[in-house]
Amino acid sequence: MLEISNICAGYGNKLSIKNISLHFNKGNVYAILGPNGSGKSTLLKTIDKIIKPKEGVVYINKEDVQNLSRKKLAKNIAYLPQKNSTSASSTVFETILLGRKPYIIFEPRQEDLKLVENIIYIFGLKYFSFRNVGELSGGELQKVLIARALAQQPKILLLDEPINHLDPKNQIEILKVLKKITSELGIITIIVLHDLNLAFKFADYFIFMKQGKIYAKGDLSSIEDKIIKEVYDIRVKILNVGRSKLLVIDE
Ligand SMILES: Nc1ncnc2c1ncn2[C@@H]1O[C@H](COP(=O)(O)OP(=O)(O)OP(=O)(O)O)[C@@H](O)[C@H]1O
Ligand SMILES: [Mg+2]
Repeated sequence: MLEISNICAGYGNKLSIKNISLHFNKGNVYAILGPNGSGKSTLLKTIDKIIKPKEGVVYINKEDVQNLSRKKLAKNIAYLPQKNSTSASSTVFETILLGRKPYIIFEPRQEDLKLVENIIYIFGLKYFSFRNVGELSGGELQKVLIARALAQQPKILLLDEPINHLDPKNQIEILKVLKKITSELGIITIIVLHDLNLAFKFADYFIFMKQGKIYAKGDLSSIEDKIIKEVYDIRVKILNVGRSKLLVIDE
């Protein structure tokens, strides 16, 4: 479904990601992990054709993304950037409805409005529906933007640090919703996270980046102290807790 083959990409003459090859399967949540500046955002931007790779190809259903129009791409990929902007004078409802843009020809159909209503309900945003997004708190806005990405009904969901501004309850709720939707709809969710414990709890696969390269990848069973220590240069212990793992600081 999504295949990245030997990608090198960056800005100007500088390569920020090097020789990256990855294969993503439907129904799974992939956590992209790694220190600041390791190339996580650059990888997501390359998948969404915002950056053109200097080498290598990103394939969606065996088609090179470079050959897909922006509109066709938007029916496949929803991308929530790390730094995002919205029109402050739009309401929550209008903002989420914008996710339907790739599908709307003249005006939204009944089914577009229904879908937005449903997503608003899932995200607990009912009481915010007609508030202007400019008047929301950072966390509330972040929830609206994740809801907008889902309204796009993507086959691939790219989220760059989407839960940074959320409180613990909302972080857990959003990750739960994302995990459920990913497996129920059989989509691919790729999410950049810095909270390793939340990643261990909710992601199916883990991709560790360091200095623009893939340092390690695998499922939960492959995670060990050594990887975390070498990727982040910190002293930690990984404990097995029930079916998950827990990182504790050992400095
Ligand atoms: N627009 C840009 N122009 C030039 N260099 C950039 C640009 N964006 C990122 N870089 C550089 O590319 C490298 C990778 O950056 P990237 O944003 O992909 O890192 P990241 O892993 O997402 O980091 P963070 O965790 O801080 O968000 C860094 O060295 C960064 O300085
Ligand atoms: Mg980033």
